[in-house]
Amino acid sequence: MNFKEKDIISIKDFSKKEINYILDFAEKMVPYAKGEKYKKVLNGKVLSTLFFEPSTRTRLSFESAMNRLAGKVIGFSDPTGTSQKKGESLADTIRMADSYSDAIVIRHPQEGAARLAAEFAEVPVLNAGDGAGRHPTQCLLDLFTIKTEKKKIGSNNIVLLGDLKYGRTVHSLAYALALYGANLTFVSPASLKMPKEVINECKDLGVEPVQTSSLEKVIKDADVLYVTRIQKERFPDAEEYNRVIDSYLIDNELLQNAKENLIIMHPLPRVTEIDPEVDKTSHALYFKQAFNGVPVRMALLSLVMGGSL
Ligand code: CP
Repeated sequence: MNFKEKDIISIKDFSKKEINYILDFAEKMVPYAKGEKYKKVLNGKVLSTLFFEPSTRTRLSFESAMNRLAGKVIGFSDPTGTSQKKGESLADTIRMADSYSDAIVIRHPQEGAARLAAEFAEVPVLNAGDGAGRHPTQCLLDLFTIKTEKKKIGSNNIVLLGDLKYGRTVHSLAYALALYGANLTFVSPASLKMPKEVINECKDLGVEPVQTSSLEKVIKDADVLYVTRIQKERFPDAEEYNRVIDSYLIDNELLQNAKENLIIMHPLPRVTEIDPEVDKTSHALYFKQAFNGVPVRMALLSLVMGGSL
């Protein structure tokens, strides 16, 4: 399987066979991600990280991945320090990164920005989140986490909770989980339901998601609870945000009704939706999930830049 020079824009661009290949490669990267092993897989390669929106995990795990493989990173975490401030177009910024590096990671508030960037770059472009659109590398690390913890992805009862309207991580993940035949339940306030387009993608793959606003009704059957933040920055109206902010709280009382081996995932950052008391329970997988971003991104960077273990 050859991924050299391939753009990573949407999980929908990948077959199940290709996803399995990436997840298997990521598993081999775990000891390198932990620093237990070291190999100069990307020696001499340069990665541009262009973050037009804030990020902790995605940017730092890409940087860690590149450093762990002996590559170098250039880029920015805040576009106000770049010539965008002087009116430079996204296309021209991409042209520059293209000429300075061997791959580009981009996060941008506008849906479709990563696809556009790929049109102006010769080097591979990796979408690190485009507005409310897609977040394919997060999706891959989510799949990797479920596969590692549950030994399989399909046939699990998976609940996606929270802001399903604007949450790009759940848009990518719902499609991918349907590809594996997981049983899907979408829980959200009425105003933040999963978009019809994503529901239809699941149906086209033979999965009929259950939709509800009641977490209490579905928690007892869940194998995986994937929690998302209500994203203030995506709301056009502050009043609408205030109406839904406290819709759900995952705490130990709620978890009394859950399966013993339920895992709770969250792309992070969290705000109020998971009580910190849950962090100490065996259900809490979100910090391990965030670590998994390193081996998964090491695998992706190696594959698109032609490095091998
Ligand atoms: N999961 C995720 O995308 O986190 P950051 O916004 O911190 O990158």
